[in-house]
Amino acid sequence: MNKIDELQTRIAEAMLGGGEVRIASQHKKGKLTARERLQLLMDEGSFEELDMLVTNRNKGITTEQEQFPGDGVVTGYGTINGRLVYVFSQDFTVYGGSLSEPHARKICKVMDLAMENGAPVIGLNDSGGARIQEGVVSLGGYADIFYRNTRASGVIPQISAIMGPCAGGAVYSPAITDFILMVEQTSYMFVTGPNVVKTVTHEEVTSEELGGAQTHATKSGVTHFACANEVECIQNIRTLLSYIPQNCEETAPVYPYTLGNEVREKLNTLIPANPNQPYDMKEVIAELTDAESFFEVHKDFAENIIVGFARIAGRSIGIVANQPAHLAGVLDIHASVKGARFTRFCDAFNVPLLVLVDVPGFLPGTDQEWNGIITNGAKLLFALSEATVPKLTVTTRKAYGGAYCVMNSKHIGADLNFAFPQAEIAVMGAKGAVEIIYKKEIDAAPDPEARMNELVSEYTERYANPYLAAEKGYIDEVVEPSQTRVKLIKGFKMLENKVVNMPRKKHGNIPL
Ligand code: HXC
Repeated sequence: MNKIDELQTRIAEAMLGGGEVRIASQHKKGKLTARERLQLLMDEGSFEELDMLVTNRNKGITTEQEQFPGDGVVTGYGTINGRLVYVFSQDFTVYGGSLSEPHARKICKVMDLAMENGAPVIGLNDSGGARIQEGVVSLGGYADIFYRNTRASGVIPQISAIMGPCAGGAVYSPAITDFILMVEQTSYMFVTGPNVVKTVTHEEVTSEELGGAQTHATKSGVTHFACANEVECIQNIRTLLSYIPQNCEETAPVYPYTLGNEVREKLNTLIPANPNQPYDMKEVIAELTDAESFFEVHKDFAENIIVGFARIAGRSIGIVANQPAHLAGVLDIHASVKGARFTRFCDAFNVPLLVLVDVPGFLPGTDQEWNGIITNGAKLLFALSEATVPKLTVTTRKAYGGAYCVMNSKHIGADLNFAFPQAEIAVMGAKGAVEIIYKKEIDAAPDPEARMNELVSEYTERYANPYLAAEKGYIDEVVEPSQTRVKLIKGFKMLENKVVNMPRKKHGNIPL
């Protein structure tokens, strides 16, 4: 055979992965193959494969392993929206995408290249876990990846799509990365599967219930995105990348934007006159940000807080916002952790922050206290205090108690704090406050209820407004809501060269 024919034959063999039958079986499950996924993910013609001909000469525990060029993972580099990325895509048709020593080495090679060249790594995971035939060698391969994930954290963005099984210790690589995306019905993640669960805890649970996309999107918060199918999952990865920089030394791409009339009249009527009436903070976000630019993260988890990316006059920002339409926007354990994690991503990768505040306080109760609202609430406080990116705050309505301090107050380093005229910035709500400070007076009154109502009105008049905070300079400006977008555009522009020098330290000790 001539040399070029031999090369072509070898490539053709590698392209087939585990063979036609297994490819058909993959398709039958509603899944694409590793290479089909890459074709959708990368810009057309940009993907360059590495290590296509790597084979596995390790002796299995029982028998020699069958040779499949590539050994169950396709790795390489290319571009997404014209920007360099490194990728690995596990091939379920080869030993169920399981991770062998050469398979792990291939992944580590692209991770090392990504670190050296300052570009994101995307992993498309579809794997039965450690290659059972290889024993401890495959465990070592996992650990090599975990170590690199950790070293790369905060240096380059790392994105994990789960497009099939991801079980056992294998879940910890995605868990360390910045964003996880799962596909409904065809992907699952768990530390131990339904059979082990049944043996140990006698619970009967399906894979989908235990660790499917919906479970992790709504109950555990492990996944940031639950996607209807693989195509949507891949599209989400491409969109996500458009908001973030290549590495921690760079800033996100700026999209062309021509300033026009940036006044948003609708904002003047969005906040209900009755402070106890909910409204949808996403409507506020839609008015403040560039049209159709809001890209929500963790949409179905802890809906009392909203996090996501958007653009303001073409510049990428991260949004952390209380959601009064869900549990009145109260801060609880899940909301605090969700907000903190997103804040830390934005800060690590130079994405400025916009915090929208309408929060009645922290959620009371034994469930919250016993599960550590103190430590978990402190995460959000720590993350926002620590962040040195430009930080803007708009208080649309309530900012009460500790939650006032936590939600990007001036005191924890916010650069610009705006408030709507409807804002109520106080230690606590009027009724609670009056019951505590005027208890004796109310009890002694001939008509306690009437006296209490009187005092509540007085307190509301005096304290439930933004002006006491504005008089102290804690609020830089009380703005007519319709003008807020203009203020934000100017504010973010004014802060674009912000530099903050932090005290020298190895790293902080965020309360975990
Ligand atoms: C080697 C594996 C494999 C594995 C699957 N295969 N998992 N080969 N090592 N871990 C092979 C199968 O033998 C089969 O080969 C092919 O992949 C497809 O598998 P099927 O079982 O036919 O597919 P399906 O019915 O879709 O089931 C997928 C599966 C199941 C749920 C993933 O294969 C499974 O339970 N595998 C074992 C999972 C597991 O226990 N892994 C170890 C976890 S411990 P053929 O030749 O028939 O195509 C772990 C520790 C990591 O991962 C620790 C890190 C610190």
